[in-house]
Amino acid sequence: MAELAEIKKQGLLYRGKAKEMYTTNHSDILWVHYLDQVTALNGKRKVQMTDKGKTNCVISSQLFTDLRHQGIKNHFIKQLDLTDQLVQRVQIIPLETVIRNYASGSFVKRYQTEYLQKFSQPVIEFFYKNDVLDDPFLNDDDALALGLATNDQISEIRQIALQVNQHLIQIFEKINVQLVDFKLEFGVTKMGTVILADELSPDNCRLVDVQTKQSLDKDIFRQGLGEMVPVYEKVLQRLQQSEEA
Ligand SMILES: Nc1ncnc2c1ncn2[C@@H]1O[C@H](COP(=O)(O)OP(=O)(O)OP(=O)(O)O)[C@@H](O)[C@H]1O
Ligand SMILES: [Mg+2]
Repeated sequence: MAELAEIKKQGLLYRGKAKEMYTTNHSDILWVHYLDQVTALNGKRKVQMTDKGKTNCVISSQLFTDLRHQGIKNHFIKQLDLTDQLVQRVQIIPLETVIRNYASGSFVKRYQTEYLQKFSQPVIEFFYKNDVLDDPFLNDDDALALGLATNDQISEIRQIALQVNQHLIQIFEKINVQLVDFKLEFGVTKMGTVILADELSPDNCRLVDVQTKQSLDKDIFRQGLGEMVPVYEKVLQRLQQSEEA
């Protein structure tokens, strides 16, 4: 896109817990600014953390680029600087798609399984993206009944989610990191295509060091396990080294 250099940031469209989304002079392009803020419990716990936005923006940009190279359509257009990106504007499908390779988090709580129990095949779960309701767990039929997505969109989401999983497993395997689970958001473009959107960072992935079993993600904050940003930076460093190799 030749005109990308002329994209200008306009008004704030949405201030979320992790990012600010701005409109631009191009109706199909949004300007994303990653915040130095971390939240848990649906925003009830909120802390400012220097450089957190930078780390997530750079990790997310790299992973979206890697996925694009693997043929997975996503909203990422360009990284502008260390905290800002341009993305394709989509209509977000209000489903949080969680892909699990090992048991953790709410799965362990719900079914009382052992932490990091390996699944024989990836588990896909949906949560209704609705802050007022606290993002409840729901199944495909519930999503259809609520009109959150069509049958075809749900099939598409499942298919893309599994592809993303395969690629991310490999990317993280190379840097000695186990991909435990992660959350994706999808959106519909003006042309009606379902594409991957939002972000891909240690805020919405569970990552565990293969050797030490240390958490390398937001669980550090959720569980008060120490400084989070240096660990995110370690993940970024390993990804960058692996990219250069
Ligand atoms: N390409 C896109 N087009 C339109 N909206 C997007 C796009 N990518 C992400 N979003 C939305 O922008 C917001 C990003 O902000 P942030 O991640 O901080 O939200 P959040 O606090 O997690 O809140 P929410 O519950 O709305 O996701 C989210 O609502 C996300 O769904
Ligand atoms: Mg978010």
